[in-house]
Amino acid sequence: MKSSSSSVTKSHLFFALRIGTILAVSITIYVSYIFTTHSKGFFHITRISMGQQNMTEDTSENETSTFITTIPEELPHRTYLISRTRCKGKVFLLILVFSAPANFDKRTIIRKTWATDPSLKIRWRSVFPLGQAAGDNILNKKLEAEGMMYGDLIRGSYNEHYQNLTFKTQMGLEWAAKYCADFQFLLKADDDVFINPYALIDHLRIPDTPKTNLYTGSCRFGSGVFRAGKNGVTWEEYNKTRYPPFCSGPAYVLSSDVVYKLVEMFDVKKPFKNEDVYIGMLVEKIGGVRVMVHRGFRYGQCKHIPGTFSLHRAPTIECVEELFQEAMSERKEYELAQLRSARILSYNVTNTSQVHEHNQIS
Ligand SMILES: *[C@@H]1O[C@H](CO)[C@@H](O)[C@H](O)[C@H]1NC(C)=O
Ligand SMILES: *[C@@H]1O[C@H](CO)[C@@H](O)[C@H](O)[C@H]1NC(C)=O
Ligand SMILES: *[C@@H]1O[C@H](CO)[C@@H](O)[C@H](O)[C@H]1NC(C)=O
Ligand SMILES: *[C@@H]1O[C@H](CO)[C@@H](O)[C@H](O)[C@H]1NC(C)=O
Ligand SMILES: *[C@@H]1O[C@H](CO)[C@@H](O)[C@H](O)[C@H]1NC(C)=O
Ligand SMILES: *[C@@H]1O[C@H](CO)[C@@H](O)[C@H](O)[C@H]1NC(C)=O
Repeated sequence: MKSSSSSVTKSHLFFALRIGTILAVSITIYVSYIFTTHSKGFFHITRISMGQQNMTEDTSENETSTFITTIPEELPHRTYLISRTRCKGKVFLLILVFSAPANFDKRTIIRKTWATDPSLKIRWRSVFPLGQAAGDNILNKKLEAEGMMYGDLIRGSYNEHYQNLTFKTQMGLEWAAKYCADFQFLLKADDDVFINPYALIDHLRIPDTPKTNLYTGSCRFGSGVFRAGKNGVTWEEYNKTRYPPFCSGPAYVLSSDVVYKLVEMFDVKKPFKNEDVYIGMLVEKIGGVRVMVHRGFRYGQCKHIPGTFSLHRAPTIECVEELFQEAMSERKEYELAQLRSARILSYNVTNTSQVHEHNQIS
């Protein structure tokens, strides 16, 4: 009995060692694979820092990015911006999620899903620009607490209202340019939009996507001006029959150089009530910016379609969770496929038995 039990233990031990070795080897392969592929991506990133046009290699190895809520210096603001939260470190994609004071649930589900990069490398970060809840001090107090807790609220001193969205855009872009200067691309999204940062980042990284002078989304060319009703635009407000090209509000991307130039233009061109058209107007004035339509910025039903960067709308918490799960598993499949095709794997797997033998002796 004793000997048989000991032999069972032995064979268990043997088995455990074998499994352990295989696991250790595969984890090493996987980690080294992740490292090489991701670092490849990272080292090839070129970015532009504020006030300089020189392209620099991003060689950051262990960059961590957080938001600091101290007040490092008093920068003069030209918009309604009151937050002085600062971005620490480099971010490939900075996401401004337009939210309203009362939309706590939407912010919560976004924070729980696509808002932050779960990997060690900081590729994207999200913040929520917000105005004041007019006359609702309880809500404003809640916002203060939420801001302290998450550090990701960017607040303005204007009153929240859909007619004031241009103020939000201005202060969001000003915050990005002044307090988070080390980003490469900025995505403006609404809080009822689902974002798949993996797909978008892959797209922004490919050589075919311009790294500067970029303005992309679901863009409209030669759009007519809506004149009727209380939301119509008067001839005094805009005296041409067609708008310049603009990318529609739910989700669009700007390269950082364009963001810096836009902020400079705020004093030149006074706010237009339609925020996405306002960006189009400023972009036209800047000149030389490529307005690029991409089908990845989608509208439609809550349904996962590969290659989608943004989906308008994701109306419920369940929808956001479901789309995020799909995006995550698609990502996992993609990485596994890469892993399987990697020659390094077959080479090392044939060697595990040797590693095991080595273990057995000791
Ligand atoms: C840009 O690069 C050039 C050449 O390397 C250098 O002389 C110049 O000082 C750089 N400009 C800035 C703003 O770093
Ligand atoms: C990580 O970053 C810190 C601060 O920049 C630096 O001092 C340290 O050497 C880095 N560590 C590694 C392993 O790169
Ligand atoms: C927009 O914000 C300004 C500044 O807070 C405020 O005076 C104005 O009433 C707001 N507009 C609307 C339509 O709420
Ligand atoms: C339209 O308005 C601009 C200034 O806002 C003015 O320079 C231009 O002459 C106007 N065009 C027409 C056709 O009225
Ligand atoms: C796998 O093989 C490669 C290529 O020879 C080698 O560089 C690497 O260190 C090996 N990894 C492990 C875990 O043995
Ligand atoms: C296995 O690894 C050893 C070194 O540990 C190496 O000498 C040998 O060539 C490898 N075998 C195969 C089949 O790759």
